[in-house]
Amino acid sequence: MNLYDAIFVRQSVRSFQLEPIEQRLLNNIMNFANHLESLDDSLEVKYEIIDKVTEQEKHNGSLWIKAPYYFVLYSKIGENYLMNAGYLLEHICLYMTTKGLATCFMQNVGSIKKHEGYEPVLQIAFGKSNKNIYREAKKVKRLKLNEICIFKEEVCKEVQEILNAARMAPSSLNSQPWRLIVYDNRIHLFCRKEVIAFKKMKALHEIDMGIILANLCIGAEEMWLLSELMKSENILERHFRKNEYVATLKLMR
Ligand SMILES: Cc1cc2nc3c(=O)[nH]c(=O)nc-3n(C[C@H](O)[C@H](O)[C@H](O)COP(=O)(O)O)c2cc1C
Repeated sequence: MNLYDAIFVRQSVRSFQLEPIEQRLLNNIMNFANHLESLDDSLEVKYEIIDKVTEQEKHNGSLWIKAPYYFVLYSKIGENYLMNAGYLLEHICLYMTTKGLATCFMQNVGSIKKHEGYEPVLQIAFGKSNKNIYREAKKVKRLKLNEICIFKEEVCKEVQEILNAARMAPSSLNSQPWRLIVYDNRIHLFCRKEVIAFKKMKALHEIDMGIILANLCIGAEEMWLLSELMKSENILERHFRKNEYVATLKLMR
């Protein structure tokens, strides 16, 4: 199973076995994370694995989720740092899925301290679980493709596959705040304005945008299409009543 396959079968798990994971696997996770490229080189991040099994570190998880391990992303504050956090953590979450680990994103990082000028942004609770960490793609609760995409022209099979991968992206409260316009080998990503009215929700949806960008990029790679993330000046200048423009994935053959 690779990251692309994991996109279609992963589900959040909130019940864990409080037992250790082999040190080698923990090292591999950290190694994988450290080799990921940020959306923007200037966005510096750090990672930490909080171990509640062997080290009994102070970390309370949440009322509902008690996991053996927490993977925390810390970031310097900068433009799009939340989106970048979502982008990186989605890759890491999918990597954990390929290794048979149960995962759940957790928005609350309130109890985690700053780390040498880096803010804790988001964490993944992870570990072994008795619950099923996979599900059939058809059982996933997501909007249909035609509810989140506008097709300005007929798209090829590869682009359809990329959009299918994007559609599966997890989001805070499963809100799926994204809308996509597909035109001329470009996938333009928007965020629904009504869901970003509140500051807290705005932050979460910026993270969600990074998560769907990760799925788009993983999808493009799987289809052997070179892709480039960019902002279209044309679209930036336009005003949209219901949606806010986020970014464009340009696909090249
Ligand atoms: C940014 C973000 C924050 C999340 N925070 C929480 C959380 O605090 N607690 C929780 O139980 N689930 C949390 N989730 C998990 C979502 O509720 C879950 O991904 C969504 O309902 C879709 O379900 P699935 O992951 O099983 O496909 C979060 C997800 C994201 C993307």
